[in-house]
This record gives sequence, structure tokens and C-alpha cells, in this order.
Amino acid sequence: MNEDSFKIIVTTLKGLEGVLEHEIRRMGVRRTRRLVRAVELYGDKALIYELNLRLATALRILKPVAHLRNLKSVAAIYNKIYDLPWEQWFFSRKRIFFHVSGQLDTVSHTHFVSQKVKDAIADRFHDRFGHRPDVRKEGAEIRINLHLFRDQMTVSLDSSGEPLFKRGYRQETGPAPVNEVLAAGLIRLARWEGDTHLIDPMCGSGTIPIEGALLAKNIPPGIFREEFSFMHWNDYDDVLFNKIKETLSEKIKRPFELIKIIGYDRDAHVLEAAKRNAAHAKVDDYVICEAKDFFDTKKIPGPVKLIFNPPYDRRLTLPVREKFYRRIQEHLTLAYPLSEVWILTADPPHRLFPGMKPVRVYSLMNGKIPVYFSGFKTGLA
Ligand SMILES: C[S@@+](CC[C@H](N)C(=O)[O-])C[C@H]1O[C@@H](n2cnc3c(N)ncnc32)[C@H](O)[C@@H]1O
Repeated sequence: MNEDSFKIIVTTLKGLEGVLEHEIRRMGVRRTRRLVRAVELYGDKALIYELNLRLATALRILKPVAHLRNLKSVAAIYNKIYDLPWEQWFFSRKRIFFHVSGQLDTVSHTHFVSQKVKDAIADRFHDRFGHRPDVRKEGAEIRINLHLFRDQMTVSLDSSGEPLFKRGYRQETGPAPVNEVLAAGLIRLARWEGDTHLIDPMCGSGTIPIEGALLAKNIPPGIFREEFSFMHWNDYDDVLFNKIKETLSEKIKRPFELIKIIGYDRDAHVLEAAKRNAAHAKVDDYVICEAKDFFDTKKIPGPVKLIFNPPYDRRLTLPVREKFYRRIQEHLTLAYPLSEVWILTADPPHRLFPGMKPVRVYSLMNGKIPVYFSGFKTGLA
């Protein structure tokens, strides 16, 4: 650990802590600690830039700047926040915004807490420079993350800004897309590493095949973004950031022609969006998008891994949904023998696929919906 090292917290979705930690360790970071929906590590400014560019399963990269204790009243919150050296971190004319998580035992309304924090920061800048930062969500340049717990608060600068699932390549989506971080997580939980064909037979706007291609071509998922919050920090080093970006760009690989990445969907319109998204992500030389009904497809020669999230329509009754999933089970068994299949569903796998026993089931969240990600191995047809 060098002298400029500080604590970094990388946040993620529930259930992806393990794959996130693995990604971080593969970058050469040795000391990591798994937390709930996050991983803690130590590093410097260069590492903050690299984590933002490279991590596929991270939502935000936070730099904790203070841990405040004994927050027994709003006055205590105000004073302790006022005393922090905000002007060391960013310039008073920046647009700022707050993200609050958790709760204080001592001050009940979270909204009240963030109001006090906002006042204290604005007053400090006003007292020193004669003007206050503009506080608003739209176009916020500086994001401050407040994590509340008992009578304590961890104050962090969010180096990412917009959450990292907003990669910048996906301009169009279908009706129920998975977010990019979840898609990247599914691929890693399924342990796909570019060593078998990857098929998403209901790919919608193509998120899973595109994230697979980014992994296989070693394209840093953050490379398409034009903006990260750290670019607005006082210590931003443009030369260092561009050097890191360039080094990573040089490591992008050509696709491995023997391995195919295929996305099918029966909706030709959404598939056009998938193709455009793949082009934006610079993987249209690799991802094959074909307008096909899953029930008309079959295994291609060679080892195959299927990863997909079939539609889950809550307006349909459970028996109707079950019938659709039963058809999926039948088709997988007949048309995809000796394959590995991973499916994301909102109902438990034993109810939807009674004829297939999962080898592994992960509990995850797809937005606000608790979901199951189940892996199966199909036998001989
Ligand atoms: C939940 S969405 C998948 C979203 C996708 N992962 C994404 O990120 O955009 C389900 C997709 O399944 C497709 N679909 C439904 N039934 C299908 C079938 N029989 N064959 C192929 N695609 C089907 C729908 O058109 C829809 O795009």
C-alpha cells in the first residue's frame, strides 16, 4: 500500500459481492473485504479511475472522507459537516447532490438530515468564498454519499456520479431490460469466460450478449462514458486518467472466432435495437442477433451456455406463466442436450421447471423484484 492510499468502497447489487470482489482481485488488488452490497479496499487516485473504467459489476466507487460519530441532534450534524474541509475536495461553483442510505436512531427524518448537511456545506462555502454551490440532481457534478447508522454517518465522495450501469452504449431498450451491472453479474455467476458459445435465446435489447462480448474482448465497460464525478474533483488528473484509458484500450482483444455469442428474440423490432446497441458498444463484429422464436432454435455444435431472462408478466396468472415456463423446460431438454442453462426468474425454479434440478440457485434482485438465478445441466435428448 503506498502513501497516497485511502479506503475505497465499491458498491454493487445484492448477491454480486463475490463476483465483484473477484473482479477487483483480478486487477491486482490484494486487500479486499466483502460487505453487504459492497466491497472495501485500499488504493490511490489512479485506482479510483481504473475501477470506474474496468469493473463490470460495480455500481459506484466511493471515497469515504469522514466518519462522524455522536450525532445526537441536527445541530451536531450541522457543526460536524461544516467543519469538514469541503473546499479541499471541490470548488464552490460545482453543482452538488446527495445520496442518503440507512437511518439515524437519533434524528428520525432522513430528509431533515440531508437538508442540514446541505445547509452546512453551502454555509461553509458561502462564509469562505461568498457564494453557495448549486444543489440539484439534474446535471450534478459532485455527488456526496451519506451512509447513516445508529448515531453515526460515513460521508463519501461518489467518484462515479451516474451509477456505473449507465455505460453509455445502450441507447434503446425493450420492455423489461436487465440492467448492465446485473447482466454482467449473471455472466460471471454462470462462470462464462469466453470458453463456450454464449446464447441468450430471449435477448431483448441485447444486454447479456453485449456484456458477454465486452468480457470476451476485454473492453472496459466504462470506456464509453464521457463523464465521471471524479473529473470535477480538485485533484483530478486529466493526463493520468487518459493514460489509464489508453493503456486499457490497448489491451482490447480481437474476438475469438471459434466462440459464438448469439442473441435471439422473436420480436424483430427489439432485435434491431439490440444490433444498434451492440454497434455502440463496438461488439457488433462479434454478437450475432437473429430474429427467431426460441422454440424454433436448437443447439449449435460445440459447448453451449445459455443465459437468459424470459418475460415475467405479472398480469398473467401463475398457471399461464407456469405453462410458458413448462414449454421452455421441454424445449431445453429436447433441443439443447448436454448444455449449461442459466435462467433468471421471479418464481422459484422448482415450481417453474419441475423436471430439471438446478445445480446452483442464486438469490438476486432485478430492480425491486426478488429473483432466482438458476443453473441447470441438460442431459442427453
Ligand atoms: C425480459 S425480456 C429480456 C430482456 C433482455 N435481457 C434485455 O436486457 O433487454 C424477454 C424477451 O423475451 C422475448 N421473448 C418472449 N418469448 C419469446 C420466444 N418464444 N422466443 C424468443 N424470444 C421471446 C421478448 O420479446 C422479450 O424481448
